[in-house]
Amino acid sequence: MAGLVQHLPNHRVTSLQNVRQVKPDANLIGHPRPVPGATKARRSGSLVCHAASSGMSATPPVPEGDVDIPLLTGLANTIEWLSDYPEFYQKRFKKFGGLFKTNLLFNPMVVVTDENEVRRLLQAEHKLVESAWPQSMHNLLGPNAILTAPAKAHKKQRQILSQAFTDAAMRLYLPTVLDVCRYTLAQWSASEEPVLFYSAARAFAFDVAATVLTGTRFDGNTLVRMREDFDVYADGLFTVPLEIPGTPYAKAVKARKNILAEIERLILDAKASNEAQSRGRKNALRLLLDAEDENGEKLTMEQLKDQILTQLFAGHETTGATLARVLPEIQKQPHILAKMRQEQAELIQEFGDDITYDVLERMPYTDAVLREVMRLHGIVDGVWRQALEDLEVQGRRVPKGWTVQLMVKQAGLDMPEFAADADRFRPERWLEDSGAPVKKEPKGFMPFGEGPRKCLGMLLAKMEMRALLAVLAREYTVELEDPDESWFQGFKPVNKLPGRVYKYQA
Ligand code: HEM
Repeated sequence: MAGLVQHLPNHRVTSLQNVRQVKPDANLIGHPRPVPGATKARRSGSLVCHAASSGMSATPPVPEGDVDIPLLTGLANTIEWLSDYPEFYQKRFKKFGGLFKTNLLFNPMVVVTDENEVRRLLQAEHKLVESAWPQSMHNLLGPNAILTAPAKAHKKQRQILSQAFTDAAMRLYLPTVLDVCRYTLAQWSASEEPVLFYSAARAFAFDVAATVLTGTRFDGNTLVRMREDFDVYADGLFTVPLEIPGTPYAKAVKARKNILAEIERLILDAKASNEAQSRGRKNALRLLLDAEDENGEKLTMEQLKDQILTQLFAGHETTGATLARVLPEIQKQPHILAKMRQEQAELIQEFGDDITYDVLERMPYTDAVLREVMRLHGIVDGVWRQALEDLEVQGRRVPKGWTVQLMVKQAGLDMPEFAADADRFRPERWLEDSGAPVKKEPKGFMPFGEGPRKCLGMLLAKMEMRALLAVLAREYTVELEDPDESWFQGFKPVNKLPGRVYKYQA
């Protein structure tokens, strides 16, 4: 959820594009700087602070980091972070290493990058930590959003919502997703103006999310209006939640109202329509209207509105931005697109022209491209949690109640398995010599999170990204004006990636 983005891709939150921790000497390349006093044994021990059994002093110290002067540090850090967040982290990585304390949006916080600790803490959701996004995000996602729901409500919501994101549900959505893919590529290739792929890829992902989630294909104008509202909305997610007119937060509150009004209309339409009217095409809203938890309870209108909003948002920012990152990479290294085309040609030979769900599952090379994009250009930088009790992290203490920022992207960039050429875009690293996917994915790779809050839309994201790339590789060529265009703070290409799409014939 970039930011959520940290899920919120567009968020400034923690995009660490191009940010590397300091590489002080050859031994440390690709690894977080060791925290003084942190031993391997301690890292793999209990995360709860059992000082006596760990052999440390009774109360381990909190990690090194910013000196916290009440209000002042929170304010100064927040300003620094909002104006250039990659630099905010880079400065501290250089000074303190991959584990440090700070204060953001007036939350005392520890930032964690070590892959073992990030994974363990994500898996310890509801036990040692609890999702703890900033207040601005709580308010804007709404009281019923799964992303911010506390333990008990989260379990219940997850039980209901996951019914719309199963493997079986994906098979039902695929025809709709393919329609959107083909329509989008045809529109792009027919465009007389250069296509701005950064915006166009997010519009595609929004079109997929809206169609799959609500069963409604928005007309062009509504689509553009809602996308604009979502941009304004995203800008308010990580801010100080004071509704002062003209501030990003106040604008985001207004955008939320507009979006919810549209969603309510869709829910009422869906309730009024019946299965026959949906022409056999399934959608998540219809599944959610019928879904019940173990006590037979259904979602209320307010819950449905917040859930659909969260999923529309979480579902399109992330996927769209990931797809936009594929295009420069396949243009900079033409052999990558050639291999993707070869893979499709072989699939056509074996299974015919149809792109079925099973065909999408047989694309190891395309999957390797997507994995490599998510490793190098991961859209979710970090997720926010709160310590439910004193925790021990790499031999240091995170006091109960503090925020822990778990940097999933940085953990992926630092994976020891790929340390030798971590900066290179090389899909082959995800494949065996036979071309099959690597048997064991490195544990530092967590683009969809981990544990009880692992991305609910992961199957949908994978399916739509594979489907778009399959149609592209079979029928089209994309040419960006400048594949080396720079990305502002790592998340937004300065000119929005202009380029053209041409029909391709093998
Ligand atoms: C490339 C695309 C995507 C990426 C990288 C991604 C990443 C993530 C990550 C890292 C989380 C965990 C957040 C946390 O631990 O707090 C998450 C959660 C979530 N994602 Fe995604 N996501 C993607 C696409 C989608 C899509 C397509 C949808 C739905 C339409 C979606 C819906 C959600 C929801 C509802 C959650 C919250 C799950 C929970 O709290 O139980 N995501 N996503």
